[in-house]
Formats: sequence, structure tokens, C-alpha cells
Amino acid sequence: MSVVISGAGVWTPEHRISNEELVEAYNRWAVQYNRKNQEAIESGACEEKPLSSAEFIEKASGIKSRYAYIKDGILDIDTMFPRIPPRSEEQLSHQAEMAISAAEIALQQAAKTSEDIDMVIVSCAYTERSYPAIAIEVQHALGIQGSGFDMLVACSAATFALQRAYDAIAAGSARCVLVINPELTSPQVNYCDRDSHFIFGDVATAAIVESDASARAEHIWDILDTRAITRYSNNIRSNFGYLARSEAVDPFAEDRLFHQNGRKVFKEVCPMAARHLADQIRAAGLEVSDIRRWWLHQANLNMNLLITKKLLGRNLTQDEAPTVLDTYANTASAGSIIAFAQNHQDLDPGDYGIICSFGAGYSIGSLLIQKTEGKMGSG
Ligand SMILES: CC(C)(COP(=O)(O)OP(=O)(O)OC[C@H]1O[C@@H](n2cnc3c(N)ncnc32)[C@H](O)[C@@H]1OP(=O)(O)O)[C@@H](O)C(=O)NCCC(=O)NCCS
Repeated sequence: MSVVISGAGVWTPEHRISNEELVEAYNRWAVQYNRKNQEAIESGACEEKPLSSAEFIEKASGIKSRYAYIKDGILDIDTMFPRIPPRSEEQLSHQAEMAISAAEIALQQAAKTSEDIDMVIVSCAYTERSYPAIAIEVQHALGIQGSGFDMLVACSAATFALQRAYDAIAAGSARCVLVINPELTSPQVNYCDRDSHFIFGDVATAAIVESDASARAEHIWDILDTRAITRYSNNIRSNFGYLARSEAVDPFAEDRLFHQNGRKVFKEVCPMAARHLADQIRAAGLEVSDIRRWWLHQANLNMNLLITKKLLGRNLTQDEAPTVLDTYANTASAGSIIAFAQNHQDLDPGDYGIICSFGAGYSIGSLLIQKTEGKMGSG
């Protein structure tokens, strides 16, 4: 039996923030901070906040803009975080709403309804609460039988969840799995940190994984191999957590928000990812040159250029390795799935592709897939 991806969907928030808007707000905030703290800065008691630049951001990362679930507050220098209106326990939660919007597109692409699904995995970098699981809320809202659970693997949450879905179908513990990645990253971004204020954006992606026997979609991708590896690193951290209350620390202190040693991440993750992909492709009896399309993690354009150069000895074209981070920024685990969802329908049966994520943990997840004949209209 082969296990396939038969649908993928992207839900994009309506609010967009350009580098220029973000930098303008950050710089106004930094100037105000420096003015307020002038004496302390002069005495050496605190450091002056450096200014940010839109040119630096685009050159260092390839990011030109990002989407925000809620824009209100992010550009207000007296706030510097998204003001997300609270919802009651009776209302659909924010992440469940994002997740359902993406799920509906993936279901439609796969020519499936809620009745066909028997497992929901919500997998992302952060969930807005511990329980009940967002996946169970989505399951309830869509009227899905079976089970649902949440999992967190930072930037590799989507690929690791696709591997869980693959395993469930292969083992027979599920018939058709809905994997959703509601990446609501903006509440964990430190918009007052010049080195990281530009990195993240919000989005939700979804995919349907099932047996080839039940697939009815126009575009079907056979999953030939899945791989997931982790290696502990402190270089990318987000320390927000429930212990803040017991530790009596500020839950929103700088060290609780996203922070990284970007240079080290760049240097350590690129060779790991290149080795991982080369091993996976060769173990399947293929050469890296056999891969028609690379749907890579979307954190930094220069990282992707370096990884593909290590693998193929040349820069890949937009057609070979589509970039979406210019408009979406880093959307944690969703980046490679956005790239896949928006750039797979033009390929032909027999074409090979790689979906790969890498990031905090460290973690690397990848799927080697091959397009098969679509079945739309075959009943
Ligand atoms: C984050 C990242 C884009 C920063 O790029 P970089 O070239 O490593 O930049 P550095 O932080 O070393 O800074 C280079 C210079 O630009 C400055 N700089 C940093 N941020 C800046 C900004 N927003 N505006 C202007 N200048 C900035 C730094 O102060 C530094 O100046 P210096 O040389 O005088 O010290 C890069 O390290 C990266 O992408 N790493 C990959 C990790 C990643 O994105 N992970 C996300 C999770 S997977």
C-alpha cells in the first residue's frame, strides 16, 4: 500500500506588514527608549538600542514582508505586540479558527469531507493553551470522528506531523489524517529586538494524508520516505511557559520570547540539513539531481541557497526551489508546506520532490515524494 498526500491548503491572514513599516515603528520605539534612558546609557548601566534597517533585513534574510493575524499593536510604539482580542471558552479559539480555514482548503483539494477524516493532528511551534487540544476543538467544530492531538516541534512541527500521519496510515491506525499547522507566531516575537523583530509571520497550512486506494484528488503525491532527526541545541529558544508563575519571573521578559544566535544556527544547521537530504535521497536509490522540486523550510533565503549549493553545486531557480519567505517571512513549521501547496500542481506524474524543514531543537524533518496519476473524476 502506498501512503499519499492528496491535498494541501494555505490560509493567509489579511494583514500584511512590510519591512519598511516594521523598521519605522521599531526605530521610533528605539529612539524613544534611548531618550528615556539617556542617563543610564551614558553611565553604562544600560545599552543604547541600535537602529534597524529594511535593507539589512532583505539582504540578510530575503524577507520583504510578513502577514499578521492581528496587526493592531505591533506597530504602536507604546505596545509592540499584537493586541489579540480575548475570546470566551464558548467561542472558537483563535488557532482553531486559523486551523479550520486552512483545513477547509486542503479537504477541498483532496476531494474529501470531514466524514472521511479519522485523525486530526495540530502541529505547530506554539499552541495558545495546554488543553483541551486545539486538534480536538477542530475535530469537534468540523464533526470529525476518531481522535485528535496537538504536537509541538518548533520549525519542524509540520514535517514531523506528516511523518506521524504517514505512520498511522501505514500501520492501519487511521484511514485519512488531517494535519494542520496554525502558526500564530507574532505573540512570541520580541518586536523590541532589532536582531529578530523581522523574522516571523503568521499563517496556517494543512495537508491530507491517506492511502492511495482511497485518494480521489487531481494531484496526488506518493510518500516514498520520511525522516526526522533531532539534536539538542540552545541556539534557538522560546522560554515562555507555565513555570513562570511558580518561578515568580516576568512571563513576558525578553528571555521568555523568541531569541536566537542566528549566526551559529546558520553555520550549524545548513551542513546538517544538506547531509540529511543527501543521505535520504541516496538511500532511496536516487541522485540529488533527480529531484525536480525542493520545497524547503522558509527561514532565510541565504540558508536555502547554501544548502542547495552544497547539494547540487549551483544555485537553484525559483522553479526548482520556490521561495515564499519574501512575502510570508519565517512562518515556523508552515514555510515548506506553503511552498508545496502553492507550487506542486504544475509537476508531472513521475516527478520527485522533497519537503524539508529545519530549525529549533535542532530538528530536521523531510519527506521524499513522487507525483502519481491524479484520480479526479474517477468516483
Ligand atoms: C538572523 C540572521 C538573518 C541575521 O543575519 P546575520 O548576517 O547573521 O547578522 P548578524 O546578527 O551577525 O548581524 C550582522 C550585523 O548586522 C547588524 N544587524 C542585525 N540586525 C539588524 C537589523 N535588523 N538592522 C540593521 N542591522 C542589523 C548586527 O548588529 C551586525 O552588526 P556588526 O557586524 O556591526 O556587529 C541570520 O543569522 C539568520 O538567518 N540565521 C538563520 C537562523 C534563522 O533565521 N532561524 C530562525 C529559526 S529556523
